[in-house]
Amino acid sequence: MRVIITKDYDEMSKEAARIIAKQIKEKPDSVIGFATGGTPLGTYKELIRMHKEGGLDFSKITTFNLDEYYGLGPDHPQSYHYYMFENLFNHVNVDPKKIHIPDGLAKDVEAFCKKYEEEIKKAGGIDLQILGIGRDGHIAFNEPGSSLASRTRLVALAEETIKDNARFFEKEEDVPRYALSMGVGTILEAKKILLLASGESKADAVAALIEGPVTSQVTASALQLHPDVTVIIDEAAASKLKRKSYYKFVDKMYRMLEEKKSL
Ligand code: F6R
Repeated sequence: MRVIITKDYDEMSKEAARIIAKQIKEKPDSVIGFATGGTPLGTYKELIRMHKEGGLDFSKITTFNLDEYYGLGPDHPQSYHYYMFENLFNHVNVDPKKIHIPDGLAKDVEAFCKKYEEEIKKAGGIDLQILGIGRDGHIAFNEPGSSLASRTRLVALAEETIKDNARFFEKEEDVPRYALSMGVGTILEAKKILLLASGESKADAVAALIEGPVTSQVTASALQLHPDVTVIIDEAAASKLKRKSYYKFVDKMYRMLEEKKSL
């Protein structure tokens, strides 16, 4: 696991956008897994800037989103569908036919989830999956106790997640209690994974993800089993890591090697 510690949210966002842009430039028809929530907003802003000012081309990518609230349609302002168009897709040249977001209004949920998994496979699998992390250590909506082999399915949100996400709704009661979410097993099949976290409220979850045991009680810890994970966190989110200075040292070495390679 590569750990990149940035001074603040802004630097985290720019570093993440740089990695996503590199992926798209190296493989223009990349399959990118997108996350929603507050954390990637700065990254998406930077990607939009790169598209507008530097011509970063999204036209050949295929996208798969991690999750969607169950019961919310694409026009609902708090749906993840709406979020993605508002914060990224409407501002870049992504092909709408290649966008996949779980359908919060799916009538046959089981059939829909099965089809979603099949579509990921048909697209050749996810090349780069972007993730945030919940305070309870969840990735996508895989709450504590989710199987580390889980697949896309209907999940019940944890109390902590409902409280955290209430900030996007008028009142807590409006937060849906269920969501359609990729499973931990689905996420682990992505070729590369990029997890972002910012702020002190994420410090415990980040420490558990990087330095804790692999456990279904912190589903993000399953990323320790994946061979190509980059975690970008700001100083506040990194504040509870025991081996912070070692990660910084390793990151410096990586950068020196990368610089040498590009000479
Ligand atoms: C969003 C998602 C969630 C969030 C997590 C952190 O698609 O899957 O796992 O990444 O809840 O949310 P924020 O970034 O709002 O703190």
